[in-house]
Amino acid sequence: MSYLLFFDSGLGGLSVLREAIRQHPEENYIYVADNLNMPYGDRTLDEVRDLTLDIIKRMTEKYDIRAITVACNTATSAAISDLRDIYKSIPVIGIEPAVKPAAEQHPGGHIGVMATKMTLREKKFRDLLARYAHMANITPIPCPGLVDFVEKGILEGPELEEFLSRIFSEYDFEFDCLVLGCTHYPFVKAAIEKASGCSNIIDGALGTVNNLFRQLGIPKNTEMPDYEKFGDIIFYNTKDILTFDYDACRLLYS
Ligand code: DGL
Repeated sequence: MSYLLFFDSGLGGLSVLREAIRQHPEENYIYVADNLNMPYGDRTLDEVRDLTLDIIKRMTEKYDIRAITVACNTATSAAISDLRDIYKSIPVIGIEPAVKPAAEQHPGGHIGVMATKMTLREKKFRDLLARYAHMANITPIPCPGLVDFVEKGILEGPELEEFLSRIFSEYDFEFDCLVLGCTHYPFVKAAIEKASGCSNIIDGALGTVNNLFRQLGIPKNTEMPDYEKFGDIIFYNTKDILTFDYDACRLLYS
């Protein structure tokens, strides 16, 4: 049996996997979380690249993998070109902050890009910024610590709202659009909207999944997917948390 592999440092990549399942529930998926070594956003580029390459290597040796989706902005900036060099015969899809659609939809506006420190520091993002800086005022918003809320299952409530309000209090202007440049953040979108007062919030999950199926030559589902024909979903986590499948399913089908 062949699988579509999704990888993230933790639970965040499920925001991308859920979009894939919504479109093609009949496919077989493997989701791997390197929760032993997370958060990736606080690590060095070399560390994240080595961790990513190691996990993908182990999974591709064990399973017949038809495509790799790095459902993590941080790991994409660290490892995507090495992965594409190594796995030439299958699609290797990365995710990057959805700055392009944000700039196109809000020309001249204030766009905030929420992401990990590493994503915002790396060349991939700086190049992206340079490409769209003439179209809008783009502000990187590092959010160290936000990933931990999602990992702990705190998706709403006063503690999270206070944390987010502190982040937005740094800026003395309103954002016209916020880009969620970390795959964990869509799970706390409602709290982000509440704390920022901005309701135009976009993430890269749909674009990434569309790219995956396009590269695989799998046509877009124009009708309601047949949920009677579910494929397999296998979950792995490097910390060996026994309740991981349960936590993952809760987020996937929330
Ligand atoms: N989910 C990851 C991303 O999209 C980051 C989480 C982490 O810092 O480990 O960047």
